[in-house]
Amino acid sequence: MEIVHTPVLLNETLDFLSPEGESFAASPFMVDSTLGEGGHSNAFLQRFQNLRIIGLDADQNIQARAKERLSVYGTRMNFHLGWFNDFYANYPDTLPGPDIILFDLGISVFHYEKSGRGFSFRYDEELDMRLSPDAGQSAKDLVNTASEFDLADIIYKYGEERYSRRIAASIVETRKSSVINSSKELAEIIYRSVPSAYRHGRIHPATKSFQAIRIAVNAELSRLPQALSDAFAVLKSGGKMGVITFHSLEDRIVKCFFRDLAKSCTCPPEVPICKCGGKSRAQLLTRKPVEPGQNEVDENSPSRSAKLRVIRKL
Ligand SMILES: C[S@@+](CC[C@H](N)C(=O)[O-])C[C@H]1O[C@@H](n2cnc3c(N)ncnc32)[C@H](O)[C@@H]1O
Repeated sequence: MEIVHTPVLLNETLDFLSPEGESFAASPFMVDSTLGEGGHSNAFLQRFQNLRIIGLDADQNIQARAKERLSVYGTRMNFHLGWFNDFYANYPDTLPGPDIILFDLGISVFHYEKSGRGFSFRYDEELDMRLSPDAGQSAKDLVNTASEFDLADIIYKYGEERYSRRIAASIVETRKSSVINSSKELAEIIYRSVPSAYRHGRIHPATKSFQAIRIAVNAELSRLPQALSDAFAVLKSGGKMGVITFHSLEDRIVKCFFRDLAKSCTCPPEVPICKCGGKSRAQLLTRKPVEPGQNEVDENSPSRSAKLRVIRKL
């Protein structure tokens, strides 16, 4: 089996989340919340010989690949199929509190290159974009039924696309005469609707809209805040949690959540002297997000927007 996804910020993740130190169990336990093809888990299992992992993924096709790849680790590696927010909301009694939790958000190169579900504007595939069939409506349903206002809103909010209105108008105009079925058709509609200077920019003009539609279809941003909070609740004291994000909306959610955990005082700003006597619940191990160096970006372009933030639970 050919592995197509290169794990991002791998050495940094291994170093920041290493299960060394007094607070870690003799046989530490990790939850890889976004297993993908298992690149991070594979490296953790190789580096830390007594580590056990459970890997989560909503997508059963990519999970099958990870199962094949990681079978060499036997009972040290376990798998769970489902959304990470559901998993942490119903954290199984049978599992210990994790010493390490990793989130590597978004989708994998596998999804763009091999899934056949229309994640990439480079291929002519059925426009689906669901990580799991239970995600609800497909990208095809969304682009063919959402109102022009909602489409513009999604493309602007989740894609930060400045031509969102023109793109939404063009989608709605096209679908009056024919259903938009494929990724290629959608990419062409977007390409035709933006100014010509934008067509020849640094990135393909459909990049941001495709990202936005995928985020909306899989409700990616709404799953994150509660998942972070529930994951932190089950993390062992002294345990570490790391999150790798790929766009500013995700990163803002993680940054604010970690910042609030690290704050000692929760009194409202108008109170001059602390009355809550509050204690920080976590220590920020990355004051600034860790970003890939130029070498990593040159060798693995999907890493270019990655940011890693890590905390330790107190
Ligand atoms: C960036 S990839 C992970 C890559 C992995 N770290 C590796 O090195 O191979 C993210 C994975 O998380 C999964 N995923 C995204 N959102 C999820 C969610 N809310 N619940 C469960 N899995 C999710 C995707 O299906 C994808 O396989």
